[in-house]
Amino acid sequence: MRVLFVCLGNICRSPAAEGIFRHIAPDHATDSAGTSDWHIGDAPYPLMQAEMQNRGYNISDLRARQFTAADFTDFDLLIAMDADNITNMEQLRPTNNTTPLRLFTYFADTGDAFVPDPYYTGDYPGALTLIENAAHGLSHHLANQRTPS
Ligand code: 4NP
Repeated sequence: MRVLFVCLGNICRSPAAEGIFRHIAPDHATDSAGTSDWHIGDAPYPLMQAEMQNRGYNISDLRARQFTAADFTDFDLLIAMDADNITNMEQLRPTNNTTPLRLFTYFADTGDAFVPDPYYTGDYPGALTLIENAAHGLSHHLANQRTPS
């Protein structure tokens, strides 16, 4: 599966989601993007990189890019961090495209409605605990979806 994680800036939540998911489910092709053009080319935010490093994940190789209409055809599954991301992404969906677009928290068992943005809240550990939970849920979801051969 080709899975794309999307947030607003592509420097906090979605690169963290990509880094954690590629670690626990390396068989899938992963990428991340932001709905804004604010941080194109930037590395993940230093405070997020530090908290990721605390948990054993290195995302220093990632660089921000903007989400585009082509991502609807280039990926099999699109994962958004919050409802605003979904609104902004749906505006770019090509006619007749049916690529699934889901909230990341759909795959978590925490009851959270969205992934709060630590760039604003300052709660990097809380965001990463939720992202780790959702990433494991997504990994299990995709494993169970696989058709037996
Ligand atoms: P992200 O967080 O969407 O999780 O990458 C943000 C990072 C930066 C900004 C907004 C959100 N910003 O306004 O620069």
